[in-house]
Amino acid sequence: MRIPENKIEEIRSAVNIVDIIAEFVNLRKRGQNFLGLCPFHNEKTPSFTVSEEKQIFHCFGCHAGGNVFKFLMDYEKISFVEAVKSVAERLGIQIEYENQAGTEKQSEQEMLYDVNEIAMKYFSDILLTKEEGETGRKYFQQRKIKNQTIREFNLGYAPYKRDAFVEYAKNRIDLEKAMQLGLIGRGKEGNLFDKFSGRIIFPIDSPNGRVVGFGGRILEKNEYAAKYLNSPESIIYTKGKLLYGLSHAKDEIRRLNKVIMVEGYMDLISLYQNGIKNVVAVSGTALTEDQVVLLSRYSKNVVLLFDADIAGVKASMRSIEILLKKDFEIRIVSLPKGEDPDSYVNQFGKEKFDELVKQAVSFHEYQTALYEAEGYFTDSARSAEAIRNLVKSLSLISDELKRNFYIKSISKRFGIRENLLESELDKLLVKDVKQETPAKDSFRSNKVFPNKEIKITQEIQFLERDIILLFLTGSPDIIKFVFSHINPEEFLIELNRKIAELIYEEFNKKGSFEVAAVIDTIEDEEVKDYLQLLSIDQYSLSSSWEKLYPKQDNSSVLSKVCMDTMKKFKSLQMDNQIKDILSQVQNVSSEEEGRELLHILDQYQADKKRLNEEFN
Ligand code: CTP
Ligand code: MN
Repeated sequence: MRIPENKIEEIRSAVNIVDIIAEFVNLRKRGQNFLGLCPFHNEKTPSFTVSEEKQIFHCFGCHAGGNVFKFLMDYEKISFVEAVKSVAERLGIQIEYENQAGTEKQSEQEMLYDVNEIAMKYFSDILLTKEEGETGRKYFQQRKIKNQTIREFNLGYAPYKRDAFVEYAKNRIDLEKAMQLGLIGRGKEGNLFDKFSGRIIFPIDSPNGRVVGFGGRILEKNEYAAKYLNSPESIIYTKGKLLYGLSHAKDEIRRLNKVIMVEGYMDLISLYQNGIKNVVAVSGTALTEDQVVLLSRYSKNVVLLFDADIAGVKASMRSIEILLKKDFEIRIVSLPKGEDPDSYVNQFGKEKFDELVKQAVSFHEYQTALYEAEGYFTDSARSAEAIRNLVKSLSLISDELKRNFYIKSISKRFGIRENLLESELDKLLVKDVKQETPAKDSFRSNKVFPNKEIKITQEIQFLERDIILLFLTGSPDIIKFVFSHINPEEFLIELNRKIAELIYEEFNKKGSFEVAAVIDTIEDEEVKDYLQLLSIDQYSLSSSWEKLYPKQDNSSVLSKVCMDTMKKFKSLQMDNQIKDILSQVQNVSSEEEGRELLHILDQYQADKKRLNEEFN
């Protein structure tokens, strides 16, 4: 069953988000928006903003945000359908359901969440109250995990019996669903059995705290069974998109603006129990870009805990690369041999652990120290290898100043000429660009086209932002006008390009664009966050527009601003093209190529002239 798309739209446009949120949050008018204390994280000064004009909410502190339905879902911990119903009830709108294929998805997800919820309660009940839970209780005791922690993380135990959960579940849930979620398996004879039997259970949450899967640890070493069994992926669980523990840790990560990244479930839980709560666990899989993007919403300062040898570093290189590319500040702590965070904190306590974290060094320092300790610099061949690897790591840092600083430090430390290191670095950087941006030409029309990266100046940043703000006015005339002059691919900044593409698609589909209608369907957190910010923020153009064009009615101001912005954007684009051609002219290899370039140059200059006429 499902509510038709247009009904959802009708309900959303009929309600005022401010009225709904005001039922739960004390809001005060501030400028065009309403402001209050954010209900999704602890704060003393209000950063939770509701825009009546745009019909969305956004918290500048914790980046929560969305439309009215999203607010109710998060605040009341209800499903999307329930949120829509709840608004409809308030407005007295009748909902008629449709029953169609492909429309099952919403409720299918909800059913899976329910099954996991029931399983989680079952496992936790066994562990905390049942006789069969004794083995599990003993195990946690031995690992120094307290009852309070068990409750906080909803840890559980699956009794050592082939079909205890099957028996429990059979009259309560759809067993097909339990199979889909990997809780139950089917044997050769068609018999159903518990997948997790005899294991302690770690429920895995989404960042909103809903159970999407489980990790189960075997109690004793067993050659025939894996130490950890993890739920398979499902429509509610994609491994590479979650981090274990994030729903518990996110507030503390934000508060401290720092996250400690560990590997295992037990590492996270032990640290947490010892009062170190800004921790997430990658849990066995390799760190993915999605996970890093997710994390960057909370903090970009990460502390990695490493085993102290080169093999450990090599194994982690891929993760480090992803973090560096997303501009994370990485600090490294090395643990004594044979220890992991769980064993360390249980043996030495929180203070010693904090001390260790305080001694964390930059990745560059860490790598250098390691090569030194392993004697690389006593031998010239290995020394070259080490230095090359150090430079290679530097090439992953996107901040040029930072790179430069480290180059100087290598040069000084090992007595190598800076320009030698720089040229080594440049080689790697060029390779990087080639690998990552296959033919990134934003101007499709010509064949001699810029192989050079265009520098993103502040002017470009502002112009692109202004164009997005023009889209956000929601005026169909403006949107149509802008898209008749620029394609989404012409935005030079990736984030803006993604937003333009999204708006373009929506506008083509519906002939209109409204942030509140799309905001909850956006999966890319960065895009979503930026859109919210631009929709809601006071620095938005309109105020400066009014200053520029006082005493005029809104729509004529808007069309003036639109013309002006477009003209600047186009003209800048052409200037860049002309500049590029001019630099190519200086390096031509044949007369013919030179002639061709000059011809193109002529065309651009003519275009530019036309542009001035068109937009005046
Ligand atoms: N892991 C896994 N599957 C395995 C082994 C490990 O998914 N067969 C993941 C788990 O998330 C585990 C992490 O990798 O937490 C680290 O593994 P390991 O260091 O072996 O386990 P610990 O977390 O240290 O667990 P314990 O302290 O209970 O041994
Ligand atoms: Mn361990």
